[in-house]
Formats: sequence, structure tokens, C-alpha cells
Amino acid sequence: MKVLVVGAGGREHALVWKLAASPRVDKVYCAPGNAGTAELAENVPIGATEINALADWAAAHDIDLTVVGPEAPLTAGLVDAFSARGLVAYGPTQKAAAIEGSKAFSKKLMEKYGIPTARYRVFTDAEEARRYVKEKGAPLVLKADGLAAGKGVTVALTEEEALGAVHAILEERAFGAAGERLIIEEYLEGEEVTVLAFADGEHVLMLEPSQDHKRALDGDRGPNTGGMGAYSPVPALTPELARRVEAEILRPTVAALAEEGRPYRGVLYAGLMLTADGPKVLEFNARFGDPEAEALLPRLMTDLVEVAEATAAGRLDRLSLAWRPEAALTVVLASGGYPGHYETGIPIQGLKEAAAQPESLVFHAGTRREGNQVVTAGGRVLAVTALGPDLRTARERAYRAADLISFRGRHLRRDIGWRAFKLGSC
Ligand code: AMP
Ligand code: GLY
Repeated sequence: MKVLVVGAGGREHALVWKLAASPRVDKVYCAPGNAGTAELAENVPIGATEINALADWAAAHDIDLTVVGPEAPLTAGLVDAFSARGLVAYGPTQKAAAIEGSKAFSKKLMEKYGIPTARYRVFTDAEEARRYVKEKGAPLVLKADGLAAGKGVTVALTEEEALGAVHAILEERAFGAAGERLIIEEYLEGEEVTVLAFADGEHVLMLEPSQDHKRALDGDRGPNTGGMGAYSPVPALTPELARRVEAEILRPTVAALAEEGRPYRGVLYAGLMLTADGPKVLEFNARFGDPEAEALLPRLMTDLVEVAEATAAGRLDRLSLAWRPEAALTVVLASGGYPGHYETGIPIQGLKEAAAQPESLVFHAGTRREGNQVVTAGGRVLAVTALGPDLRTARERAYRAADLISFRGRHLRRDIGWRAFKLGSC
């Protein structure tokens, strides 16, 4: 069969890599892709949100399955547009993807169905928001309602920071229309973990847990980014807690969306805080995480084509997932300055040497080819994953491979996995 992957990041390279390994797949395309996807797939020069152009192209090329990586085409209705034309696209419809597209929608859904999450209020008026901040006091968490590439959240440890975020979001419109509404929520303490699940509108198939590292600098300091590294499994999520996540969060959320007439088919991403009161939802996303996908997909043995088919048939209850027992750890190599301003077009060396390291995979994110040279083309440039019998070995291998890659301004965190190592259980 012929498969199209939509997107251009490390997650999409990992999806291309995984689908290309399927015995069911003859040919993979990636739109628009990057220099890494071009080695396994044929890149198609259509942007990820050009939905009609993508549907025309998929119809003209008899694509059997389209897998969507990023949120923007999902919340813009790619899956709806494809199915209206008889094309199969894996991912939630626009109505179901609202669980990521609007934080106000997802908070209201959780409240209505008793799904554990931080207490919150929604504001459109800055004066009211300021009054609320002063009444509650710090710490508080302030979030732009809409999509803001993971950067619309302020964890305010002081009242001044909270007031600054109110001003930036509601008055300066730092996130444009995504900030028409502001959510202010209770600050939750605990260990963060990402749990993804495949859903078919009714059934839920939970994936192994992973943990992202959202801050730019070691020790979880500096500004929030799209994610600087990940690992899986996560020792903090015990089997008992995993059962609670499934029973108290994932199943009720999929049931709630069905009840609301928005059946959810695709990957449901739950960003969770493991609080003293049990797991609570920080956010839902409508897709694989990036870089979580780069850590998880190399561990997943089950064919994604089988998952997509069982999803379409509403039979995920008959599927179980098989995992490699090894741990995986992913280090992101970013452009100097990211998540702020950065340069692009900088030549990258050492890609082949890194990929030749034991159990190591180099996924491209912001890269493109210029003649014979691969150059930087984005904030997050590469995601280097290694597998190992335990997380320590995976970490050693991932850093050894990552350190063979150089480009001017290269920035990486040195402490990916630190929370797991602090627990000392791996
Ligand atoms: P989000 O994009 O909603 O996941 O938020 C980005 C990051 O902000 C999360 O990964 C958490 O580290 C932090 N965060 C979000 N909501 C809360 C909360 N209610 N309490 C504490 N930290 C939070
Ligand atoms: N790594 C966080 C995300 O994909 O949203």
C-alpha cells in the first residue's frame, strides 16, 4: 500500500521510519518532509496545512492511508476533508481535535465528566483576570486558549509573573487569536508524564509512558520549548498508576467525546501530573508528541498499519500492542537561540557517523538538503534516539551518537532522563 505522512518534524521522520518498516507498505511519501524523511520516503512539496492541495494530491496518487503528524492540519479539519473525498486519514476529526485546539473546551469537558484536572477559570477581560490573580495569589498557571506551539503557558511562581502573562496574552495578544481567551488554573505539583493512547471512538489502547523535557536548559530551567528530549519507559508511572490513568482519564475522556457527538479516532495524548491526589490532566493533544514519538516508536513492535485498520473498523479492543523491552532515550539538538531567534542554513556534520552507532537512530526535524550538504532549517534540528537494556545505557548511547553531530550554535540539554535517574530505579 501507499502511505502519506503529513508534517516535517522529528515526529514525522519517526512515523516515516516506522511505516517504511511495515511489510504492508510499499511506498511512503511525506509532505512536506525534511532531509531525513527524503532518505526513506519521497518528499512532496505541499505544506502540512494545505488541506485541499494534500487531498487532491492523495487522490491523484491513490494513497491508501494518510497519517497526520502535527496538530494544525487536524484542528483545521484535514481528516474531515479527506473522508469527504473517500480518502483514509488517520487522526481525529476537527470536532474531536478540539480537545487540543481549545483548552477552554477540554477543561469544560473534563469538568462535566469528572475527569481529574487542575481547577480553573476562563477570562476574556484583563481587569477581571487581574482581580482573580490578586485574590488567588501565586503560584498560578496561565494559558492561552488556542494553539501556541507549546509556548502559550506561563507557570507563574509570583503574582508579578502572573500579571505579566495576563497582559501579554489578553492585552498584547502575544499569541494572536489563540489568546482571545485566557485560562488561569491551579498550580499542580508532582512528576510529569505523557501517556498516549490509540482510540477508535470507543476503545482505548494505552501506549507505554514517556516523559518530555519542555524547558530549554538543564535542570528544567529556561523558557518552554516544543520539547528538548524524552525517554520511555517512565519509572514514576507504576503499573498501579498506569491502571488509574486508563480507568480515570483515558477511557472516560474517549467516552465523553463520544457522548458529545465527537467520537475520537487517532492518538490521544494526555500530559499528566502525578500529584499526591493521583494523576491529573495538564493538557490533551490530538496527536503523537514530539519528541515523545521519537522515543516511543522505536520501541513499538506493532505495525501502525494494523493500528490504523483496527481504528477504522472500531476494533481496537481486539488488538494488543507489542513492545521492545529495551528503554529508549531521545536527545534533541536545537539551533542556538531556540526557542527565541535563531539562524538557519548552517551545515551539519556527522549525521552518518551518529546513525552508525549501536542501536542509534537520527531523526531529522528542522533540516533541508542544499546540494550535497544537509543544513539546519528550524529550531529543533535533530532528535537522536538510542535504545538500551536500561535507561542508563540508552542515555550513554544517545549522547555518544549526538556528540558526533556538529553544527554552529548547536544546543542540547545534557540531563535528559534526570528525573528517572534521580529515582535511582534504572
Ligand atoms: P501545557 O502546554 O498545558 O502542557 O503546559 C506546558 C507545561 O506547563 C506543562 O508541561 C507543565 O510543566 C506546566 N503546567 C501546565 N499546567 C500546569 C499546572 N496546572 N500546574 C503546574 N504546571 C503546569
Ligand atoms: N512534546 C510535547 C508535545 O508534543 O506537545
